[in-house]
Amino acid sequence: MPMKPALTLYLAAPRGFCAGVDRAIKIVEMALEKWGAPVYVRHEIVHNKFVVDSLRDKGAVFVEELDECPDDRPVIFSAHGVPKSVPAEARRRHMVFVDATCPLVSKVHIEAERHHAEGLQMVMIGHAGHPEVLGTMGQLPDGEVLLVETVADVATLTPRDPDRLAFITQTTLSVDDTAGIVAALQARFPSIVGPAKEDICYATTNRQAAVKTIAPRIEALLVIGAPNSSNSRRLVEVGSAAGCGYSQLVQRATDIDWRALGSVRTVGVTAGASAPEVLINEVIDAFRDRFDLTVELVETAREDIEFKVPRVLREAS
Ligand code: F3S
Repeated sequence: MPMKPALTLYLAAPRGFCAGVDRAIKIVEMALEKWGAPVYVRHEIVHNKFVVDSLRDKGAVFVEELDECPDDRPVIFSAHGVPKSVPAEARRRHMVFVDATCPLVSKVHIEAERHHAEGLQMVMIGHAGHPEVLGTMGQLPDGEVLLVETVADVATLTPRDPDRLAFITQTTLSVDDTAGIVAALQARFPSIVGPAKEDICYATTNRQAAVKTIAPRIEALLVIGAPNSSNSRRLVEVGSAAGCGYSQLVQRATDIDWRALGSVRTVGVTAGASAPEVLINEVIDAFRDRFDLTVELVETAREDIEFKVPRVLREAS
């Protein structure tokens, strides 16, 4: 047998599941145990096809809107959060519902409401159309939250009163890009109120920091995650911005473009917050099949955060 070429794989840590994703998946599993199938889930519980498919196999039914759910089956709201109108409608229909919104997203919802109660208009930094952004903007009446995606958007903002503004952010943004947008907001609206840093969560921050640490050692970066996963896509961008010549998002091992990797002998691997460890192991095994592989773990932070599931699921039925 020909000798396999040597390759070093730098495995980022932290990577993969965060506490909010872990909790959201647990909520669906516990709801299925408590109430039996089918349990409805509004939107992908987390943005990962593998996770969604395995919950579907256990009896979860994924829908996009509440009007696709019957009144008499439980429904779960995804980790990204929902506009206020969604639980209101579920209550009106006397539905049993469990909110799997990540507590760190709920914290942003509360911030928005607090600023609104003080008479401030909100500016949200986020990606248009992402379910978290729709959910957070939907905490306040229409027109109360202005969305900015880029530094250029800041210049065209037309707030009601430039001296009565506050900002919030999506939790899964690029730390560096967001800092630029915050600086532009503060330059144009010096009295704008905001969180001490931004609302980007610990998991997003830690995963981006780990990529920056491995970037100088690698020729290529693979990020395991779904195309609709915001935090995974940001990891690809962080890899490119940190000088990694080739940075690719893959859902699983079969997506790896071996030809594009060419003759690289150092690869970094990380995973977005909704990608399960089984898919990471699958990618590592695919490298082991082709290369004389050395895996080096690069740990830049330890995470021990856990979120409790809602009380309704902890109580006996
Ligand atoms: Fe929550 Fe951050 Fe994960 S907001 S769902 S801990 S990526």
